[in-house]
Amino acid sequence: MNRRDLIKQLSLGAVGLSISPQLHALYQSLSIQDFSKRDFGDRFKWGVATASYQIEGAWNIDGKGESIWDRFSHKKGKIHNNENGDIACDFYHRYRDDIELVRQINMQVFRFSLSWSRIFPQGSGSINQKGLDFYHRVIDTCLEKGIEPWITLYHWDLPQALEDKGGWANRDIIGYFADYADTVSKQYGDKVKNWMVFNEPMAFTGLGYLAGTHAPGKKDIGLFKKAVHHTVICQADGGRILRSNVPDGQIGTTFSLSSIHPKTQQKKHVEAALRMDALFNRLFIEPCLGLGYPKDTFPYLKTMDKIMKPGDEERMKFDFDFHGIQNYFRIVSKFSLFPPIMWANQVKPQKLITDKAELTDMGWEVYPEGIYEVIAKVAAYSGIKKIIITENGTAFPDHIENGRVHDEQRITFFKKYLQQVLRAKNEGMPVDGYFVWSLMDNFEWAEGYKPRFGLIHVDYTTQQRSIKDSGYWFRNL
Ligand code: FCB
Repeated sequence: MNRRDLIKQLSLGAVGLSISPQLHALYQSLSIQDFSKRDFGDRFKWGVATASYQIEGAWNIDGKGESIWDRFSHKKGKIHNNENGDIACDFYHRYRDDIELVRQINMQVFRFSLSWSRIFPQGSGSINQKGLDFYHRVIDTCLEKGIEPWITLYHWDLPQALEDKGGWANRDIIGYFADYADTVSKQYGDKVKNWMVFNEPMAFTGLGYLAGTHAPGKKDIGLFKKAVHHTVICQADGGRILRSNVPDGQIGTTFSLSSIHPKTQQKKHVEAALRMDALFNRLFIEPCLGLGYPKDTFPYLKTMDKIMKPGDEERMKFDFDFHGIQNYFRIVSKFSLFPPIMWANQVKPQKLITDKAELTDMGWEVYPEGIYEVIAKVAAYSGIKKIIITENGTAFPDHIENGRVHDEQRITFFKKYLQQVLRAKNEGMPVDGYFVWSLMDNFEWAEGYKPRFGLIHVDYTTQQRSIKDSGYWFRNL
């Protein structure tokens, strides 16, 4: 509905006819909102993002093999309340209705990932036809409804059989990943034109092999470094495989990026901030842009040389059609003798910034300028053709009453972040899309079902979906 139609309807409301709560919410938001979708241009893509393990459920049916997240979440004490993704949102059975909801909230793109072990139950070798068929149905449903499917090859759920061989820390992963990427892009490439190799490589290598808080739960700096290097190679190889199998496609990959500020301007804090930036923001994007690992700023990374083989430097490069940015929080750094503090800093930003910082349910600071800062940072590299915000969103406590969730705080969050995205765009940065994390509430990794990130509320006992006010807000934007 355009603004003029809305105003007409509102004047009807003024003479005593009731207006819908959605319209009311929209009216309220219009008075403070100073942009519409049109301001972002016709080519700008609006979408919602999801990930296989977080929504699909059906963890062991129709031939699916075990993934590292199945194994990890079934261990006691790893996940909040010992929850797991066995059922999650049951998207495996409800995908038709859920994709219909994508359409109902006027989103043009549905970003989802493939479960590697649904397709290759053992990670390599024999293929599970039922797994392939499932994603054909998902893709076909998107296309029938006029929604663009965007596929992420890997969003953290490695087949357990490959982890048993060393996972990302074993160089053989390069071959396994290539076979998987080749198979699925040949399978779906005629229908799907937008592909992403990885979701947030820093997160799955860092949390999975160094911090140990995500699957496979390892805490070993040696394994972490190997995992990083093999992932960097797979990132570029994956790009090349996708491009050769989908020559008319747009090939990208995604990165978790945060603005990083020193606690004070004291030299030691500034240097700590630069090192954290090297680790969190530059480690995966720079090798693919041909800049190698950021050893200049973080000399410790020189030890990566021992892992590298002749030819790797060249092999790490790939000219992606787009770079996906995923932004959730700012990091405030302070110098510490012990590197693990680097992980702690991001969790409790209020201790380092101010007691007044607005925090989400994840304990992350709401810092809208941060998304502008990371876009500006990526745009400044040469070799960046296009930037898509492949994830941004927030978890706040939601209350559902009579099927409605009045999540004003989330709407305000999106307004503030989108204003910063628009600012970047208006300044000429090549940002061409914005995907909300997430379509619906889902299994939030180690945090289980507590944080609710969705535009759509999910009642996990009945699997009932209810569009939140933020979903209506996007629908009407
Ligand atoms: C991102 C992940 C996504 C989700 C959001 C909240 O880092 O890519 O799966 O967990 O955080």
